[in-house]
Amino acid sequence: MIRIAPSILSADFARLAEEIRSVEEGGADWIHVDVMDGHFVPNLTIGPPVVAAIRPVTKLPLDVHLMIAEPDRYIPAFADAGADLISVHVEACPHLHRTIQLIKEQGVKAGVVINPHTPVEMIRHVIAEVDLVLLMTVNPGFGGQAFLPTVVSKIRDVARMAREQNKAVDIEVDGGIRAETAPLCVEAGANVLVAGSAIFNASDRAAAIGAIRAACAK
Ligand code: DX5
Ligand code: ZN
Repeated sequence: MIRIAPSILSADFARLAEEIRSVEEGGADWIHVDVMDGHFVPNLTIGPPVVAAIRPVTKLPLDVHLMIAEPDRYIPAFADAGADLISVHVEACPHLHRTIQLIKEQGVKAGVVINPHTPVEMIRHVIAEVDLVLLMTVNPGFGGQAFLPTVVSKIRDVARMAREQNKAVDIEVDGGIRAETAPLCVEAGANVLVAGSAIFNASDRAAAIGAIRAACAK
């Protein structure tokens, strides 16, 4: 089953509640929240107070993607704010196993993220510990960038790694996902699709979500 997670990075922040309702009514499965610190990535976005503010607006799971240095300092605050799943970048975590345990201790699901250039080998020894692996299909920091097709083979490698370890894990992709690129990822083994600009730049959110779903069902 394919899950679609609209990224609110491309939403109108002045009307965030309405924007989230529009994608929930349009058939979204999760809400993807991009947290950037201006340090790990060259952009600044939102923090725990915004997650707390949107928590009562939707029944959908909040999928919080931390693009921040030293995520251990903020994981409890994001969990308290209402995150259902917290994902951290392997590139930002020198003690990744410990960070994953910290996420799980908060009673939320744990994900690991790898940048386009990072080998999948980096997650071999933690994949058994996580609920989700997120493969970046752009360099993180901004919405609206072009999909990097080189990542497709990495999706296959992660799917194989999970199979070899008998581990059921969600495989999520993020960046440049639209009706043209989503099927390549699903065919390779991804089952959670983040899409920001492809959904929020469309006036009809249900149609935009439906177009991605329909493209993957072919
Ligand atoms: C990029 C973020 C993405 C971004 C995706 O750093 O992690 O979630 O919002 O935006 P699109 O779908 O426009 O590439
Ligand atoms: Zn993201």
